[in-house]
Amino acid sequence: MSDDLASGFRDVDRAADLEVFTGCLELVNSIPFFAECKRQSYGLLGAAPGRRILDVGCGLGEDAAAMARLVAPGGTLVGVDGSRAMVEAARGRHGEVDGLSFEVADAASLPFDDMSFDACRVDRVLQHVADPAPAIREMARVLRPGGVLVAYDNDWETLTVDSADRPLTRTVLNAWCDRFPSGWIGRQLVSYCLQAGLGDVEAFPRTLVLRDLAVADRLYCFFATVERLAESGRIRREDAMRWSDGLRAAGAEGRFFCSYTGFLVRGVRGQGEQG
Ligand SMILES: C[S@@+](CC[C@H](N)C(=O)[O-])C[C@H]1O[C@@H](n2cnc3c(N)ncnc32)[C@H](O)[C@@H]1O
Repeated sequence: MSDDLASGFRDVDRAADLEVFTGCLELVNSIPFFAECKRQSYGLLGAAPGRRILDVGCGLGEDAAAMARLVAPGGTLVGVDGSRAMVEAARGRHGEVDGLSFEVADAASLPFDDMSFDACRVDRVLQHVADPAPAIREMARVLRPGGVLVAYDNDWETLTVDSADRPLTRTVLNAWCDRFPSGWIGRQLVSYCLQAGLGDVEAFPRTLVLRDLAVADRLYCFFATVERLAESGRIRREDAMRWSDGLRAAGAEGRFFCSYTGFLVRGVRGQGEQG
């Protein structure tokens, strides 16, 4: 199993170095754009005292802990993650928070009764799931009638980077997108929610602009992706080096630009039986 951010999050427990993944989550959590997206998702969920909320793919549990404070007093917050290591890390960091618990569970097989939550949230998880439909159906199943699902995810084909070589840039960015089990999940969320029987489905695009090459490369792995393409013979090594040098020059001269768009999607379970 490679410790590659695009393909490794689907099975973090097999990582050679867990810190690659925890470090990525900590970096994301330190960026104001993501903090604002997360706050917006709590609002869309209707996180308020007394609510029962499920956070699927909770990672280090930071968001679950933040929501546990919003549902107190009287509420419950459950974080689940497919990775035992992530759940242990989340328990270590937030195990003492009132009303908050963590469990190991796959998104497509949630160990909860039908209609047991008021709201369910899934943040940058479905990009790592090759077949997101069963997972979204499971989340809809555990919602009470009128309960809300809020999903945030990336659409990797919206990733842009300013570079002189347009064809090679497309090759690099498409290779990054296609390493994800579901690199197009951002644009597909609305359709998956509708197929799971949710109604009132709305999508809110959120675009991040990054001008710092070092931060962007930690998140989007430009140099590793172009290197992998050269190693596999899909592009010439001299072209890979020229492309990387171009990014470094842009970074050094303060003209580096990249952006990406993620989508916050909200859907509501109807009052009747699930569709
Ligand atoms: C990019 S992290 C996001 C973590 C967290 N939601 C956050 O915003 O910080 C993706 C998480 O999804 C988990 N994950 C991946 N596939 C999963 C699955 N099929 N079921 C449950 N969790 C999964 C990973 O273990 C990882 O913790």
